[in-house]
Amino acid sequence: MNPIFARTSVRQWTDEPVSDEQILNILKAGMQAPSAMNARPWSFVVVTNPELKKQLSEISPYSHFAADAPVLLAVLCHKDNACPPYNAIDMGICIENMLLEITAQNLGGVCLGVAPLKERMEAMAKLLKLKEDIEPYALIPLGHPAGPAKVQDRFDPKRIEWIR
Ligand SMILES: Cc1cc2nc3c(=O)[nH]c(=O)nc-3n(C[C@H](O)[C@H](O)[C@H](O)COP(=O)(O)O)c2cc1C
Repeated sequence: MNPIFARTSVRQWTDEPVSDEQILNILKAGMQAPSAMNARPWSFVVVTNPELKKQLSEISPYSHFAADAPVLLAVLCHKDNACPPYNAIDMGICIENMLLEITAQNLGGVCLGVAPLKERMEAMAKLLKLKEDIEPYALIPLGHPAGPAKVQDRFDPKRIEWIR
């Protein structure tokens, strides 16, 4: 099945570890995303250190469960790239590519919003000791889902106008 229609946010995981190969496949999918002028503004930090996962999970009131994920991906954006006005679109596509690869590997994850909220960005930058030109964009906790996925069909024909 196309992972687009199987993907759903997962916020609870088993303790089963995720292999480096699985993580690399997820990052490979992110890096395969299209980007304006092929700027590829992204980079990633793979966090499995329990203390750092806990600290990162506390940068927002809506991400505490991320401390329990076997892997926490920090998604970063390099501001000084070939086409900065499109950074938000580039990063969004990159994140969705990773969420789809997570689903394709029968793993589960969720996008946790960081940018453009200054407070969360500053807290994440401090924890990861980022340089000035690198912006924190999102967190993706992931692992083996603790339960079955409940996917919602969201097709809504009212959202479509046909001009023939
Ligand atoms: C930009 C963005 C930020 C999000 N931030 C959070 C968050 O902070 N905490 C959370 O639990 N879910 C977060 N989500 C996940 C959404 O709540 C979720 O995608 C939405 O409810 C639809 O559910 P689904 O992903 O299962 O289809 C975020 C999703 C996006 C795209």
